[in-house]
Amino acid sequence: MEKQRDRAQPFWSTAMVHKLILDVDTGTDDAVAIMLAALHPALDLVAVTTVNGNIEVEKCTDNTLRTLEWIGRGDIPVYEGLATPIVRPDFPTPRATKRDPKVHMAVLPVPAPKGRKQDKPAPIFLSEIFASNPNQITLVAVGPLSNLAATIAVDPAFPSNVSHLIIMGGAINKSNITPSAEFNIWADPEAAAQVFRAGFKKITLVPLDATHEALVSSDQCDHLRNLGTAAGEAAADIIMHRIKGYEANQPTGTPLTAPVHDAVCVAALVDESIVDTRFVNVVIETAGEYTIGRTVVDHEKRTTRPANCHVAFHANRSAFINMLTEIFARGPKPGTR
Ligand code: RIB
Ligand code: CA
Repeated sequence: MEKQRDRAQPFWSTAMVHKLILDVDTGTDDAVAIMLAALHPALDLVAVTTVNGNIEVEKCTDNTLRTLEWIGRGDIPVYEGLATPIVRPDFPTPRATKRDPKVHMAVLPVPAPKGRKQDKPAPIFLSEIFASNPNQITLVAVGPLSNLAATIAVDPAFPSNVSHLIIMGGAINKSNITPSAEFNIWADPEAAAQVFRAGFKKITLVPLDATHEALVSSDQCDHLRNLGTAAGEAAADIIMHRIKGYEANQPTGTPLTAPVHDAVCVAALVDESIVDTRFVNVVIETAGEYTIGRTVVDHEKRTTRPANCHVAFHANRSAFINMLTEIFARGPKPGTR
C-alpha cells in the first residue's frame, strides 16, 4: 500500500532532489525564480546563465549575482551569455530601459554583489555541463532563448543531453509585447524556432495563459515580508514593484496583483501538479509582419504536425503561493548573508 504522506511534511520532503540550471534575464520575476530554486530543499541549483532580455545582459548578470548573495547562495556560479539575439542584433532594445521601466528594474533592490561572474561564456558552459552530466539536469529557461540556440550551434548533441527543458514563454490567447506575442519568444524568435525544432527529449512550455492564473497579491507580499527573512523581504519588495507596474500599465483584472511568470516554472519542476499541461504541437512565427514571435499552439488539431511540447494551459495559484511562503521562510535574515 502506498506510504501515507506525513501531513506535517510537504510531499517534496521525501521526493528526489532535482538538479537544475536556470537561464535568466534578471529581471524581477527572474529574481523570485532564482531565490525559489536556490532555497528549495527538493532542488539543487547547479548554476545560473544570463542572457540579454529585460535589460542588458551585463545588468542581468549583476542582478543575478546580487540576488544569490542576498539569500546566502553566492556559492552558485553565474555564467554570462549573449548580449543580442542570434539574428537581430538591434531587436529588441532592452525592455526595462525602453518599454517596461515599471515592471522590471535595471538594478534590483538588494546590495551590490561582492562576487563576480565566471569567465566561461554561457553557451560553452551549457554544452560542457550537459555533456558531462547527460540527462541528469533540468534546464529552466525564463528569458529569450538566445543562449540555448547558441549552444545548439556549437554543440548539436546538446539537446540530447538535456532530460527536460522548461520554458517560460509564449501565449495561447494572451500577449504582453505585441498583440500576437509574449516577450521571451518575441525577443529572439529565430532562437525560439531553433529550440523547438532541435529535438529536445521533453519540452514544457509555461505561457502567459498559465502564469496569469498564479497571480500574487499585495496582501501576500505583506505575508512574505512578515516572514522576516532575506528572501521574504526581497520577494515582497520585488513583487510589490511588479504590482505597481501592472496596475499602471497592464492591469491583470484582479486589483493589486501581478504574475510572477518565471517562478511558476521553478514551482512546476518541484510539483508538476502546479500546472495543467497538454501535449500539442508548437511552432514559432519568425516572419509575420504582425505576428513575429507568436507561439502557434495547435491545441485544436488544425494541422498534422506532431505534438512536440507539453503546454501549460492552467496553473494552481494557491499551491504556488503556498510554496513561495513555505520556501521563503528559509534562509538568512536580511543583511546577514
Ligand atoms: O513575458 C514574461 C517574460 O518576459 C518573463 O520571463 C519576464 O522576466 C520577461 O523576461
Ligand atoms: Ca525572465
